[in-house]
Amino acid sequence: MSALNKIARTMVSNRRGILAADESIGTMSSRLEQVGVEPTEENRRVYRELIVTTPRLADSISGVILADETFRQKLSDGRTFPQYLDDIGVLAGIKVDTGAKPLAGAPGEKVTEGLDGLRERVAEYVRLGATFAKWRAVITIGENTPTDRAVRANVHALARYAGLCQEGGLVPIVEPEVLMDGAHSLTRCREVTTFVLQVLFAELDVMEVELDGIVLKPNMVVAGADSPEQPSVEEVARATVETLRATVPESVPGIAFLSGGQRPEVATAHLGAMQSLDPLPWELTYSFGRALVGPALETWRGDNSKWTAAQDALSERAVANAAAR
Ligand code: 13P
Repeated sequence: MSALNKIARTMVSNRRGILAADESIGTMSSRLEQVGVEPTEENRRVYRELIVTTPRLADSISGVILADETFRQKLSDGRTFPQYLDDIGVLAGIKVDTGAKPLAGAPGEKVTEGLDGLRERVAEYVRLGATFAKWRAVITIGENTPTDRAVRANVHALARYAGLCQEGGLVPIVEPEVLMDGAHSLTRCREVTTFVLQVLFAELDVMEVELDGIVLKPNMVVAGADSPEQPSVEEVARATVETLRATVPESVPGIAFLSGGQRPEVATAHLGAMQSLDPLPWELTYSFGRALVGPALETWRGDNSKWTAAQDALSERAVANAAAR
């Protein structure tokens, strides 16, 4: 078993999942502001300390994805975040993309940037304690989107990122997110997700990325958030698993879903329903952001007398997702 395969399997097995706490400075700041917390560097640090010091986190969380700012910050006890995570038996991951920017010639569509200097940044993150990385591409469903050009530009970047990570010793989380925004049907989401994953795996093959040393982080196949016809939990589970079976090679050790704006309980229900569908060739787990930490942030709201209650709210989601597996 290669070192990368061993890490990838640790990330997705034993009924554990990955916690995404890697919001960019801009996104994290607006989430803090929404709950009345001043968006300072220190408040972002304190909030992330609350998250990672949740008791028994390692029972249900195999890895935490951090942003560059957090990766270099310290907990109150002086340990860096990666050091602390290593001490509690949780892998430290780093988001290495630099965000989705408008794609030339494709109005309304974006391409994720961050390849320049990535080899050197990977080497530095490895020195600082990272074992895996994340890069998120966003694909928008609209009347005339996604365009072929946006899908190809995004999967090309994902494949080059994945190759650079593996070369430097990090397991790449490969995240092509088909957004839930819009009023499209489940069928449309399924068509687009199928196409994106097909083109992605063709590109990973071109770049000779070792599939047994990646973790795929896709969206679930759902209807658009504004669609009047919302499918049942079973329909989402079935459509998602069928889409993955048709596109994801069996050598991929695990698939860890993003939550994408689904309500926390709904995301958990979908994950649970998928596990009961015939034997699956890969581990299916969670790599949720909002669906794991949302209730904790709502509970804390910057009030440290709510510290324990907020950690309980995170624990509840983490334990429920582990149980759903
Ligand atoms: P959500 O689960 O909130 O969609 O976030 C997951 C993630 O890491 C997005 O890149």
